[in-house]
Amino acid sequence: MSKKIYLYGNWKMNNTYSETEKFFEEFTPAYAPLKADANLEVGIFAPFTSLWPLSQGAKKNGIVFGAQNVYYEPKGAFTGEISIPMLKEYDITHIIIGHSERRHIFLESDEVIAKKVKAVLDAGISPVLCYGETLEERESGNTFTVMERQLKSAISSLIPAEVNKIIYAYEPVWAIGTGKTATPDQAEEVCAWSRKLIGDDKVVILYGGSVKGSNAKELLSMKDIDGALVGGASLKPASFLEIYTAYKG
Ligand code: 13P
Repeated sequence: MSKKIYLYGNWKMNNTYSETEKFFEEFTPAYAPLKADANLEVGIFAPFTSLWPLSQGAKKNGIVFGAQNVYYEPKGAFTGEISIPMLKEYDITHIIIGHSERRHIFLESDEVIAKKVKAVLDAGISPVLCYGETLEERESGNTFTVMERQLKSAISSLIPAEVNKIIYAYEPVWAIGTGKTATPDQAEEVCAWSRKLIGDDKVVILYGGSVKGSNAKELLSMKDIDGALVGGASLKPASFLEIYTAYKG
């Protein structure tokens, strides 16, 4: 039996409310032939303001969906933040936590990310925990030290049932939005290493960083890569779904 593939799209700061509605006008017929494929799980992560049309489109198509960030406190004086109870009213199933753009542009610390992961788990939602090294960290030989710090700080205080519920996404910063993909061997090396560090053979580990139809097959065929977290190529239904059809060949 072939393995299950997770195809998750992170729209980042793209797709307005009306653009999200348009996306689903195209997505629904394009996804129809794949809908019954039990080996495929599709997910989409939209900006907060597009969550309503996303929820409608996602429910209609039976795909998972969620937000790209959240604050860990349930309510209070946190101007500009969005809480988990606010998101739960949209029936979201997943939330991306610790994306490299949150870590590097918005300076989110490992400590804040750990609190977010725990709060999301406590709410019965699956965190999609992103981690990965910068080019400088890779070139200075610190890839695994950095990732060990990022992963351990997020999971070390959790119980095994919580650790298993997290979806892990290895996203080398130098491969994000650059067109420069990690080689299948580089991605596999880190994903296999992560699985050992996490200590559970069955956790879901995605690779993210310039994934597209033309490189999907070689990346997704690797043993320890369970799927892709896709940025740019997820913005259009055709380029997004092509990643899975290319993998299937
Ligand atoms: P790209 O696919 O645009 O490189 O983005 C990857 C990513 O950051 C997904 O979270």
